[in-house]
Order: sequence, then structure tokens, then C-alpha cells
Amino acid sequence: MKKNTILSGMRPTGRLHLGHVVGALNNWRDMQEDNSCFFMVADWHALMGEYEKPSDIKNNSIEMVKDWISCGIDPEKSVIFIQSMVPEHLELAMVFSILTPLGWLERCTTYKEQLREVKGRMLATYGFLGYPVLQAADIALYRGDLVPVGVDQLPHLELAREIIRRFSGLYKKDIFPEPKPMLTKVSKLVGLDNRKMSKSYGNFIALSDTAEIVKKKVFSMYTDPDRVRADIPGKVEGNPVFIYHDIFNPDKEEIDDLKKRYKAGKVGDVEVKQKLTDALNTFLDPIRKKRESLSDKEVLDIIEQGAVRAGKVAKETMSKVKKCLHQM
Ligand code: TRP
Repeated sequence: MKKNTILSGMRPTGRLHLGHVVGALNNWRDMQEDNSCFFMVADWHALMGEYEKPSDIKNNSIEMVKDWISCGIDPEKSVIFIQSMVPEHLELAMVFSILTPLGWLERCTTYKEQLREVKGRMLATYGFLGYPVLQAADIALYRGDLVPVGVDQLPHLELAREIIRRFSGLYKKDIFPEPKPMLTKVSKLVGLDNRKMSKSYGNFIALSDTAEIVKKKVFSMYTDPDRVRADIPGKVEGNPVFIYHDIFNPDKEEIDDLKKRYKAGKVGDVEVKQKLTDALNTFLDPIRKKRESLSDKEVLDIIEQGAVRAGKVAKETMSKVKKCLHQM
């Protein structure tokens, strides 16, 4: 028997980077063994933000599935699917929208923040207000009990629990477990320039970056700003180059030696960065190889099959839901 039912998703907004690997994908990969996992491309959620220019969403969805598989998400073990290919997501979201008080959504911190921060896109729409309602439906449709997410998603998880509780209270039926968030152990990976990693800053290493680009990016990385020459003792803590070493370089002795010499002013940035370049490329190589070996046809087959497997569970859930609502 598999332990838990796990559902998680990502919006297909562009190519994935190292932050996604340590922040989510490694965790997803490890959970596949003992749990029943559903990993979803949230293309409807992407559309809520990008409806004015939706042309990239389809291609990003396919590319994202390739990235997932390259990082070890295994279509034999997990159900990999695209949200819009399972229409029950919208059906359950509609049901949930009927019983979700407006105030819960208007108070949602992520919603308020996006309306305030995002410029150049009109997000004050009926659909976008309901973003967490659709997310609750995503989870409930598979009767998911664990949801691996980053801290930024906690308000949505809290709302999902409240919506599910309200459904169960109204109809006196326990169709849905209350989903619990599962936070990744690794804290958010910092950007190459020590700022928050962000698409708009371009301060990340993408899984699709070539060895050459990785080298270029590593050599432009931020280090200790007070260390203007190699013979000045430097700081290792909070220094992105060493943060990346700690995560991606498996040779702990090499790291210890570099840190010792860095703190003593006895190693140049060039050596530290070359060793990090090598470690990152060694980490990325099998991911690149796997990606190259995947044909479009193979990926399309995987998402077709995923939609069938997900659809089976989704239909079971919807038929239970409709019974509660006396629709059948
Ligand atoms: N909102 C999530 C994000 O932006 C994506 C998402 C959609 C999701 N549906 C989900 C995550 C269900 C977990 C469970 O990252």
C-alpha cells in the first residue's frame, strides 16, 4: 500500500532552473517511491496571469514536462499530467466557487500582493480572484493529503483546507482529506547575484544552459563584496559561491579546503569558481543527457497517458461530489 496521495503542480511560465530542482523536484522525486503521486502542469493557473498573451503556455507546458522527467520524475511511478486535459478540475472549481465566501479570497495575502506588485497586467479579474479555489480543486480531485510546496503557497493551502472543510460540513460527507502542506527542507536557493532568484533578474542557472553558459554565469557570480583581492581573508557565510558549493559539490573535502583557504586569503575566486563550474556541470550533465534523449512524441504519449490516469480518479471524485449535490 502506498502511504499518501500527493498532488503538486507548477505553472508553466518558462524554463526551469536550479532553484526548482532543489526547491521542489528533488523532493518530488524522492516521494515517488512510497506514495501515490500526481504532478500537474497548472496551465489554467498560468493563463490566469497571462491571458493577454497566452501564446507560450502550450510550449512551456511540454518543455516543463521534459525538465521534470530529466530530473527524475518517472512517468512509470507518478502520474504526470496537464491540468487542462482533465476537465474535472474546472467542474470541481465551479462547485467550490459556489460555497467559498468572497471575503476569504479578497483577504488572501498572495492575491493582494500580486494586485499591488504586478505591473502591466490586468489581474483584477473574477478568475484571478478564484486562483486558490482552482488550486483547492486540483488537490481535492485526487483526494490528496500531502502537498509539497514552497512557503509562498501556504496561504493557498490554508484556503484549500478551509474550502474542503466547508464542503464536508455542508454535505456531511468525508470525500476529501484535509490536505497538509509539506515544506521542502532546503531553503530557497539564492540568485547568482545574492538577490532573490527571479526570472526578471536573470540571476539563475537554467537546466537548459550549456556548459559554456554555466561557466560564464558562475564567473559572474557575486562573492564577498569586501574581498577586493585574493590575499584578503574572505567571508564564506552568506557567500553565494559557497552556498552553491555546499548544495551542488559532492566533494566535501574539496569544499572544506576551499573555505579554509578563502577565509585565510589563500585562494583566488578563479579557483573557487572553476571548481563550482565543474561541480555544476557534473550535476547537470545527466539531466541534459536525459533531456536530449526524450522525443516530443514520447512526451506527448506520457501526458496523454497521464490525462487518462488522472481522469479516472477525477471522474470517481466528481461522481461522489455530484451525489452530495443531488445532481445524480
Ligand atoms: N499555485 C502553484 C504555484 O504557483 C501551482 C499550483 C497549482 C499548485 N495548483 C496546485 C501547487 C496544487 C500545489 C497544488 O506554484
